[in-house]
Amino acid sequence: MYDFKIEAADTAVMYRDLASALEGLVAGEPDGIANMANAAALIFETLPDVNWVGFYRNIGGELVLGPFQGRPACIRMTFDQGVCGAAAKSRQVQRVEDVHAFAGHIACDSASNSEIVIPLIRDGEVLGVLDIDSPKKARFTPEDEAGCVALGKILERAI
Ligand code: SME
Repeated sequence: MYDFKIEAADTAVMYRDLASALEGLVAGEPDGIANMANAAALIFETLPDVNWVGFYRNIGGELVLGPFQGRPACIRMTFDQGVCGAAAKSRQVQRVEDVHAFAGHIACDSASNSEIVIPLIRDGEVLGVLDIDSPKKARFTPEDEAGCVALGKILERAI
């Protein structure tokens, strides 16, 4: 049984503990789907005020839904669609304070108001993205971005 008790009171400490829990979860496991599934569950359980956490995988140049926690979601996106597509195409983190103001945003859960998407890149190849949604506007701060990028670095080696 994995029973991580991660305090969310101090954001920097929370992301440090989250990264260390994620390292532990994926250590020695070569199966990317298993690692994405556990990562989605861990992040969803730990981060306050999130309603969707999951992965889209680059399969033949299209983003295809992977393991996630939250409501059933859009299955396929091109690199020209959505916040996820923008992250995959630009290879840059997309931190969107108000998804309703983002041209091309794809609404999977009407409760979502802000979103952060981390591109996952290994050996120059976009493997996919980590997508996190929140019902709160401007939920994700630069500190969250740094924490999520650190999680992405672990995931790039584990998926
Ligand atoms: N909002 C995303 C689509 C995926 S869902 O949020 C799970 C986007 O615009 O890329």
